[in-house]
Amino acid sequence: MYYTLNPPATNFNEHLINPNWVHLVPHPQPSMEEAKVDMVWDKSSLYKRVWGMGERILWAEGLHLSFGGVRALDGVSIVIRKGELVGLIGPNGAGKTSLLNVISGIYRPERGRVYFKGKDITGMPPHERVKLGIARTFQHGEMFHGMTVLEAIMLRLHPWHRGSIIEAALWGFRAKRWEVEARERAEHIIDLLELQEYRHRPVGSLPPGIQKKVDLAAALVQDPEVILMDEPMAGLSREEKEDIIRAIIEVRETRGTTMVLVEHDLEVVSDICDRVIVMDRGRVIFDGHPEDAVRDEAVITAYIGG
Ligand SMILES: Nc1ncnc2c1ncn2[C@@H]1O[C@H](COP(=O)(O)OP(=O)(O)OP(=O)(O)O)[C@@H](O)[C@H]1O
Ligand SMILES: [Mg+2]
Repeated sequence: MYYTLNPPATNFNEHLINPNWVHLVPHPQPSMEEAKVDMVWDKSSLYKRVWGMGERILWAEGLHLSFGGVRALDGVSIVIRKGELVGLIGPNGAGKTSLLNVISGIYRPERGRVYFKGKDITGMPPHERVKLGIARTFQHGEMFHGMTVLEAIMLRLHPWHRGSIIEAALWGFRAKRWEVEARERAEHIIDLLELQEYRHRPVGSLPPGIQKKVDLAAALVQDPEVILMDEPMAGLSREEKEDIIRAIIEVRETRGTTMVLVEHDLEVVSDICDRVIVMDRGRVIFDGHPEDAVRDEAVITAYIGG
């Protein structure tokens, strides 16, 4: 057993999540830097290393959430490790968006806790979580369609967005400086996601694929440590999907951002994710390597509706 490589936390039952990961830790244990270098050359080796050794950055314990009689989350526990790209999949209504909503603070769970870097953030409002470094994109693009791409991205950096009344009161004095800084950061992200030609176009006038990219850009401009992406490729053409995938991989490689990706396309998930968590009817039914997921009986049953 390699448990000593990753001492169990005092407040968390690691074995509840996945007892198998410890067997996948290579020996001797590489440093995080070495693992990052391997990311470029050897995906499967990176997967094992990051999964087995990375420190936990975000985790949830025993989440319960219901809407009327529907149990959207029925005892969900997950662990996300620093630097991982985790695919979150499952049939419609499985509870994926609900889980992201609880992690980002939009919904409060009836039971269970959410932790970020060891801090209990269960009761924290969404904008405080953004400040801590958790950003997200939305399944149904919740953006202001009349704004230009540049404005929509800059808006996420606005002090009001972060909810401080004092900052808002002092706003008049700081507006110019804020604008210069925000514009610089937004332009950087626009370049990264190759959105230059759309920067002055209203978001609502753009094709869905570009709107999805803008949503991703608006989350990335906050320079998050963890980004939760809710179906950023849903309804897009193959080409548009490839654009988004390229952006995700680039951000991961250049910034080391930890990522959770909700996605229905299993091919995409097994191509780019280190690990996959499968949900069905409010529960986690699989947590492991994408290749094993497609062979797992519970996963197959959930997908074919057995
Ligand atoms: N705001 C809400 N009000 C009522 N029911 C809700 C609400 N949000 C989610 N649900 C219900 O909770 C369950 C889980 O929904 P959720 O949106 O989390 O699933 P999902 O896995 O994201 O599905 P999809 O793949 O269709 O996006 C579903 O039965 C859904 O109808
Ligand atoms: Mg959803």
